Amino acid sequence: MTTLTVLPSGKSYDVAAGSSLLAALQSVGEPIHSKCGGEGRCDACHVHVTVGRKSLSKIQRAENEKLDATVGVSSNSRLACQAMLGEEAITVQLL
Ligand code: FES
Repeated sequence: MTTLTVLPSGKSYDVAAGSSLLAALQSVGEPIHSKCGGEGRCDACHVHVTVGRKSLSKIQRAENEKLDATVGVSSNSRLACQAMLGEEAITVQLL
């Protein structure tokens, strides 16, 4: 388990490490979008990871290419469907 804090609500949840960030956000009822079913093709699940970014799985080439074409991208950006949770607590900002 790990702790997931979501902004702007500021709520924290215990979620399973090893699952995708998208699945974790959906499981706790946070308003995250997915138009491609978590295939990394739509960028609707774009979030900013403000704390604990290194706890997530590394960005793979396809995610990096998709983020390059995404509006509002920053050095903290991830596609929630492609980021797998590690053991350390993270905080994400929903966009
Ligand atoms: S759900 Fe489509 S890119 Fe993540």
